[in-house]
Amino acid sequence: MSKHSIMVNINGSDAEYEVDSSDTLLSLIREKAGLTGTKQGCNTGECGSCTVLVNGKPVNSCLMLAVEADGAQITTIEGLSANGLHPVQQAFIDAGAVQCGYCTPGMVLAAKALLDSNRSPSDDEIKRAIDGHLCRCTGYKKIIDAVKIASKKLLEEGS
Ligand code: FES
Ligand code: FES
Repeated sequence: MSKHSIMVNINGSDAEYEVDSSDTLLSLIREKAGLTGTKQGCNTGECGSCTVLVNGKPVNSCLMLAVEADGAQITTIEGLSANGLHPVQQAFIDAGAVQCGYCTPGMVLAAKALLDSNRSPSDDEIKRAIDGHLCRCTGYKKIIDAVKIASKKLLEEGS
Protein backbone atom coordinates (compact mmCIF):
# COMPACT_ATOMS: atom_id res chain seq x y z
CA MET A 1 0.00 0.00 0.00
CA SER A 2 1.51 3.32 -0.99
CA LYS A 3 2.01 6.16 1.46
CA HIS A 4 1.18 9.77 0.75
CA SER A 5 1.93 12.95 2.59
CA ILE A 6 -1.02 15.34 2.64
CA MET A 7 -1.66 18.80 4.08
CA VAL A 8 -5.06 19.61 5.50
CA ASN A 9 -6.48 22.39 7.55
CA ILE A 10 -8.68 20.98 10.29
CA ASN A 11 -10.71 23.44 12.32
CA GLY A 12 -8.34 26.26 11.43
CA SER A 13 -5.03 24.48 12.02
CA ASP A 14 -2.78 23.26 9.24
CA ALA A 15 -1.32 19.80 9.68
CA GLU A 16 0.58 17.29 7.61
CA TYR A 17 -0.34 13.61 7.73
CA GLU A 18 1.13 10.45 6.28
CA VAL A 19 -1.73 8.34 4.94
CA ASP A 20 -2.17 5.11 3.03
CA SER A 21 -3.86 5.33 -0.34
CA SER A 22 -6.87 3.42 1.06
CA ASP A 23 -7.29 5.48 4.26
CA THR A 24 -10.59 7.30 4.49
CA LEU A 25 -10.99 10.87 5.60
CA LEU A 26 -12.98 9.46 8.53
CA SER A 27 -10.01 7.39 9.72
CA LEU A 28 -7.70 10.38 9.32
CA ILE A 29 -10.01 12.53 11.44
CA ARG A 30 -10.68 9.98 14.16
CA GLU A 31 -7.47 8.01 14.35
CA LYS A 32 -4.73 10.39 13.22
CA ALA A 33 -6.20 13.74 14.27
CA GLY A 34 -7.89 12.23 17.35
CA LEU A 35 -11.17 14.08 16.72
CA THR A 36 -13.67 11.47 17.81
CA GLY A 37 -16.66 13.80 17.74
CA THR A 38 -17.02 12.62 14.15
CA LYS A 39 -18.89 9.34 14.47
CA GLN A 40 -18.47 6.10 12.59
CA GLY A 41 -21.73 4.32 11.92
CA CYS A 42 -22.39 2.33 8.78
CA ASN A 43 -19.08 3.10 7.03
CA THR A 44 -20.94 2.78 3.73
CA GLY A 45 -22.40 6.24 3.20
CA GLU A 46 -25.88 5.51 4.50
CA CYS A 47 -26.19 7.01 8.00
CA GLY A 48 -24.56 10.46 7.84
CA SER A 49 -22.98 10.15 11.28
CA CYS A 50 -19.49 10.69 9.82
CA THR A 51 -20.40 14.01 8.17
CA VAL A 52 -17.80 16.77 8.22
CA LEU A 53 -17.56 19.94 6.17
CA VAL A 54 -14.97 19.88 3.40
CA ASN A 55 -14.46 23.37 2.02
CA GLY A 56 -17.80 24.23 3.61
CA LYS A 57 -19.81 21.38 2.07
CA PRO A 58 -21.12 18.38 4.01
CA VAL A 59 -19.36 15.16 3.07
CA ASN A 60 -19.67 11.59 4.30
CA SER A 61 -16.10 11.22 5.46
CA CYS A 62 -16.34 7.42 5.37
CA LEU A 63 -16.69 7.63 1.58
CA MET A 64 -13.91 10.12 0.91
CA LEU A 65 -10.29 9.04 0.69
CA ALA A 66 -7.88 10.97 2.87
CA VAL A 67 -5.67 11.67 -0.16
CA GLU A 68 -8.64 13.40 -1.83
CA ALA A 69 -8.70 15.85 1.07
CA ASP A 70 -5.17 17.08 0.36
CA GLY A 71 -5.26 20.88 0.55
CA ALA A 72 -8.82 21.01 1.89
CA GLN A 73 -10.31 22.94 4.76
CA ILE A 74 -12.13 20.57 7.05
CA THR A 75 -14.53 21.44 9.82
CA THR A 76 -15.48 18.84 12.39
CA ILE A 77 -17.94 19.25 15.24
CA GLU A 78 -15.06 20.22 17.53
CA GLY A 79 -14.38 23.21 15.28
CA LEU A 80 -17.81 24.70 15.93
CA SER A 81 -17.41 25.22 19.63
CA ALA A 82 -13.97 26.84 19.86
CA ASN A 83 -15.64 29.94 21.35
CA GLY A 84 -18.54 28.29 23.18
CA LEU A 85 -21.45 26.44 21.65
CA HIS A 86 -22.36 27.43 18.11
CA PRO A 87 -25.97 28.68 17.76
CA VAL A 88 -26.87 25.49 15.88
CA GLN A 89 -25.55 23.36 18.75
CA GLN A 90 -27.45 25.45 21.29
CA ALA A 91 -30.62 25.16 19.20
CA PHE A 92 -30.37 21.35 19.22
CA ILE A 93 -30.25 21.48 23.04
CA ASP A 94 -33.09 24.01 23.25
CA ALA A 95 -35.32 21.96 20.95
CA GLY A 96 -34.60 18.70 22.81
CA ALA A 97 -33.21 17.31 19.56
CA VAL A 98 -30.48 15.24 21.20
CA GLN A 99 -30.96 11.85 22.83
CA CYS A 100 -28.09 9.39 22.47
CA GLY A 101 -26.26 12.01 20.42
CA TYR A 102 -24.71 9.63 17.92
CA CYS A 103 -26.26 11.34 14.90
CA THR A 104 -25.91 14.82 16.36
CA PRO A 105 -22.46 15.92 15.10
CA GLY A 106 -23.42 15.04 11.54
CA MET A 107 -26.87 16.61 11.86
CA VAL A 108 -25.42 19.81 13.35
CA LEU A 109 -22.82 20.13 10.58
CA ALA A 110 -25.44 19.48 7.88
CA ALA A 111 -27.63 22.15 9.48
CA LYS A 112 -24.73 24.60 9.68
CA ALA A 113 -23.89 24.09 6.01
CA LEU A 114 -27.54 24.68 5.09
CA LEU A 115 -27.82 27.84 7.19
CA ASP A 116 -24.51 29.17 5.86
CA SER A 117 -25.99 29.16 2.37
CA ASN A 118 -29.64 29.83 3.28
CA ARG A 119 -30.40 31.64 6.53
CA SER A 120 -34.14 31.04 6.26
CA PRO A 121 -34.75 27.56 4.87
CA SER A 122 -38.22 26.10 4.38
CA ASP A 123 -39.23 22.86 6.09
CA ASP A 124 -38.67 21.04 2.80
CA GLU A 125 -35.20 22.51 2.44
CA ILE A 126 -34.35 21.43 5.99
CA LYS A 127 -35.67 17.94 5.30
CA ARG A 128 -33.57 17.72 2.15
CA ALA A 129 -30.45 18.89 4.04
CA ILE A 130 -30.79 16.13 6.65
CA ASP A 131 -32.11 13.54 4.22
CA GLY A 132 -29.00 11.37 4.38
CA HIS A 133 -28.85 11.40 8.18
CA LEU A 134 -30.39 8.63 10.24
CA CYS A 135 -31.56 9.23 13.79
CA ARG A 136 -32.76 6.17 15.61
CA CYS A 137 -33.98 7.86 18.79
CA THR A 138 -35.04 11.50 18.68
CA GLY A 139 -37.27 11.47 15.63
CA TYR A 140 -36.91 14.15 13.03
CA LYS A 141 -39.49 16.71 14.15
CA LYS A 142 -37.36 18.09 16.98
CA ILE A 143 -34.32 18.17 14.73
CA ILE A 144 -36.24 20.23 12.15
CA ASP A 145 -37.43 22.47 15.01
CA ALA A 146 -33.80 22.90 16.09
CA VAL A 147 -32.74 24.06 12.63
CA LYS A 148 -35.62 26.56 12.63
CA ILE A 149 -34.60 27.87 16.08
CA ALA A 150 -31.01 28.26 14.86
CA SER A 151 -32.21 30.04 11.73
CA LYS A 152 -34.20 32.52 13.83
CA LYS A 153 -31.27 33.13 16.17
CA LEU A 154 -28.79 33.69 13.35
CA LEU A 155 -31.20 36.07 11.61
CA GLU A 156 -31.71 37.99 14.87
CA GLU A 157 -27.97 38.22 15.37
CA GLY A 158 -27.56 39.34 11.76
CA SER A 159 -24.59 37.00 11.53
S1 FES B 1 -20.40 6.19 8.77
FE1 FES B 1 -20.33 7.40 6.96
S2 FES B 1 -22.38 7.51 6.26
FE2 FES B 1 -22.46 6.12 7.96
S1 FES C 1 -30.08 11.13 18.97
FE1 FES C 1 -29.65 8.99 18.91
S2 FES C 1 -29.32 8.57 16.81
FE2 FES C 1 -30.06 10.60 16.81
